[in-house]
Amino acid sequence: MSKAIRGCKSLELLLLLSSCTIDDAYVWSLPDGVLPPPEPADNPTTAVKVELGRRLFFDARLSADETYSCASCHEPTRFFTDGLPVSRGLYGDALPRGAPSVANSGYLRVYTWANPRLTSLEEQALVPMLAKRPPELDIADRVPEVMARLEDLRPLFEDSFPEDLDPMVIGNLARAFAAYQRTLISADAPYDRRELDDRALRGEALFTGLGCAGCHSGRWFTDAAESDHPFHNTGLYDLGGTGAYPFGNHGLHEFTGVAEDMGKFRTPSLRNVAETAPYMHDGSIATLNEVIDHYAAGGRTANRYKDPRLTGFSLGDSEREDLVAFLESLTDSSFALRGAAE
Ligand code: HEC
Ligand code: HEC
Repeated sequence: MSKAIRGCKSLELLLLLSSCTIDDAYVWSLPDGVLPPPEPADNPTTAVKVELGRRLFFDARLSADETYSCASCHEPTRFFTDGLPVSRGLYGDALPRGAPSVANSGYLRVYTWANPRLTSLEEQALVPMLAKRPPELDIADRVPEVMARLEDLRPLFEDSFPEDLDPMVIGNLARAFAAYQRTLISADAPYDRRELDDRALRGEALFTGLGCAGCHSGRWFTDAAESDHPFHNTGLYDLGGTGAYPFGNHGLHEFTGVAEDMGKFRTPSLRNVAETAPYMHDGSIATLNEVIDHYAAGGRTANRYKDPRLTGFSLGDSEREDLVAFLESLTDSSFALRGAAE
């Protein structure tokens, strides 16, 4: 029987879906001017797969002891972050870095804070499932057990991956997570609607004039949506005056071994940034005002590998408030509500 006429096995599970062909494309609802993110040829964004990914994202059966899910560290009401300086795995171990939001992640070309090799959401999703040092969801040794727990979702797997003899494999968990995350698009902030008051408008001019947009560029406020090399050292640390960052957080250097890559981290998006404190890869800056202090000083240390564009500046109190008002205008409140409703 061909895919197009085969009935949806998951129909009862999928009350949200109006029709019953398993290869129905997901219907995007996007603000004007925003295109759907690119998707790999072998993982088309179908409605049934997005629904499967959404369910799995919030499902604690995906962790060794059934206490943790993706959403434990990427909470919708916190704009898909966890509010911690660094995340904690299911047994409480601290991770080296904080959880970035997964909002708009479909548009990025490189994933996580500094790994240049993670270039797809499909590959990235395997990391929290398989990670051992420290464990995050800790299912590397028990994939068959986890799949058995998910047996009630089998119809959704079958309709999401109709070509597969056995669709309940870890690679398809990753594909479903990726498909769901591509639909998490936050682009309906006051900034997008051009509902900026005078303060935020002045702040926008400062953001450009001070060179922030050089790295936090384009609609997604990060060069990671435009470049395969969006890594920069902003001078957060300079251990012993050698340019070194703390052990375990050397950034791009950990992957390339190139001295100049010490302390280079991927530019984070600034979408919803007013709601996603604390800041930087290790959560070492608590507030937006302190982030501005860091840049005003030209980086809080004089690291030799610091990006040469970060030369510092001085801002009066009022200008500083303007810049913060602009950053606040990037908050898409309806996005958190949409996430929470799901
Ligand atoms: C224990 C907390 C934790 C759990 C559980 C977790 N994440 Fe994450 N996530 C993180 C952290 C921390 C990072 C940043 C990792 C780094 O840079 O080293 C991250 C990064 C990401 C990114 C990259 C975002 C970007 O801007 O590059 C995506 C996408 C993501 N996680 C999706 C998921 C999915 C899907 C799951 C479930 C399968 C999941 N996460 C489970 C903490 C977590
Ligand atoms: C040379 C590139 C570059 C420039 C210019 C730049 N940034 Fe950044 N920004 C980064 C990088 C890289 C990080 C992450 C650094 C880290 O964690 O080590 C960052 C982090 C941030 C964060 C924290 C976001 C989060 O989620 O943790 C904010 C806020 C921010 N920048 C605002 C600004 C502002 C405002 C300006 C202009 C005054 C600016 N940036 C200029 C590259 C840049």
